[in-house]
Amino acid sequence: MTSITLIATTAFGLESVVKREVQALGFADVRVSEGRVEFDAALADIPRVNLWLRSADRVLVKMGAFQARTFDELFEGVRALPWEDWIIQDGRFTVLGKGVKSQLGSFRTIQSITKKAVVERLKGAYAIEWFEETGPAYTIRASVLKDVAMLTLDASGEGLHKRGYRAHTGVAPLKETLAAALVQLSFWRPDRLLIDPMCGSGTILIEAAMIGRNMAPGLHRSFASEEWPVIPVSAWYLARKEAKAAIRPAGKLRIFGYDIDGDAISGARANAKRAGVGQDIVFEQKDIRDLWIDQQYGVLISNFPYGVKLLDYKELNDIYISFNKTFKKKKGWSIYVLTADRMFPRYFKRGRPDRVRKLFNANIEVNYYQYYGERPQRAEAH
Ligand SMILES: C[S@@+](CC[C@H](N)C(=O)[O-])C[C@H]1O[C@@H](n2cnc3c(N)ncnc32)[C@H](O)[C@@H]1O
Repeated sequence: MTSITLIATTAFGLESVVKREVQALGFADVRVSEGRVEFDAALADIPRVNLWLRSADRVLVKMGAFQARTFDELFEGVRALPWEDWIIQDGRFTVLGKGVKSQLGSFRTIQSITKKAVVERLKGAYAIEWFEETGPAYTIRASVLKDVAMLTLDASGEGLHKRGYRAHTGVAPLKETLAAALVQLSFWRPDRLLIDPMCGSGTILIEAAMIGRNMAPGLHRSFASEEWPVIPVSAWYLARKEAKAAIRPAGKLRIFGYDIDGDAISGARANAKRAGVGQDIVFEQKDIRDLWIDQQYGVLISNFPYGVKLLDYKELNDIYISFNKTFKKKKGWSIYVLTADRMFPRYFKRGRPDRVRKLFNANIEVNYYQYYGERPQRAEAH
C-alpha cells in the first residue's frame, strides 16, 4: 500500500479550517466537500494526522466509493474492496451504516449487508470459515449518500475532540475541535494578548495555548488505529517523538481567562494543567461587569451564555451593557463572539460585524460574530 486516501471529517462550516490544517501538515491536492476533507497520504501519515488535526472530528481511511442502488450492488461493491490489507485474521469489526437521500435507506440493512460482504471477502483471503474476532478492533463506516456508497475505516476511534485534558466541564462547554477552530478563524497570533471574559472550563484558551506552544492536541490520548498491525509501531513512536520535540517552551504567551463562577475557574485551571499549558494562562474569578481593560490592542474570543437554562434576560442584558461599555471604543481589539442570540449585534454598538459565520454548537445553530480590530504597530505587537 504505497498511497492511501484519508478523510478528515468536520462539523458544518469548519471544512476550510480543516483544509488549512491538512495543508499545513504538508499535504497537497486537498479535496473538500460538505463535512469532509479528503487527501492522499502514506500509511505512516496516519499517526501524524491523528495527533495534529485540531478542528477535525475524525480521521477515516477511505476504502472505496461506488454506486449502490440495490443491496446486491452494495454487497458486490463491498466484497470487491481489499479488506484483508487492513483487517487481520482475528480482527474484531463493527459496521456503522447510514443511508441518506438514497434508495438504500435502512441503516440496519446497510450494516448487515456490509458485514456479510466483508466476512465473505476475508473468508476467501484467509481461507477460513470462522472468525474468532478476538484481536484488534476496527470500525467500518458504510454511508450511502445519493446512491453512492462510501466505505471507510475509522482510524481515530473516539472523536478527536476527546483530547484527554478536560476533566471539568462546567456548564455548556464547547467542543475542543470547535474551540480550536474559533481560535484559528481569529486574528490571534501567539505574540498577541488574548482574553476570554466568560471562559467556563477554559476550552478556547487552552486550545489557543496549545496552538501557541505548537503542541499536538492528540499527544495525551490513544487512537483506534494504534492497535492495527498494518501500521508499524515505529510510525506511532516517531510521530509522538516529533510532536514532543516540536513543543515550544512556556513563558511567552499572554492569555487570560475570567468567569463569574469560581468552580468553573478552578476547573479551567485543572484542565489547563492536564493539557500541559497550566503556566500559559492566567485564570481569575471575575464578573464581566467588573472587567477593566487598559491595553490598547488585543484579541477577545468568547462563547457567550445564552438560553433560559443558563441565565435570565436581565442578567444577559447586564452582560451586554457592560461588554458594550468596555469594548465599544477599543478599536485596537479584535472581538470574536460565538452565540445563538441573533440580537447580539444590536447590543454591541461598535458597528456591523466584519464577518458572521454560521456554525453549530452541540447541534444548535450559532453565529460567530467577528469584529476586526486595528492592527498594532509592529514594535508594540500587543
Ligand atoms: C457558554 S459558557 C462558556 C463555556 C466555555 N466556552 C467552555 O468551553 O467551557 C458561558 C460562561 O459564562 C459565565 N458567565 C455568566 N455570567 C457571567 C458574568 N456576569 N461574568 C462572567 N462570566 C459569566 C458562566 O459562568 C459560563 O461559564
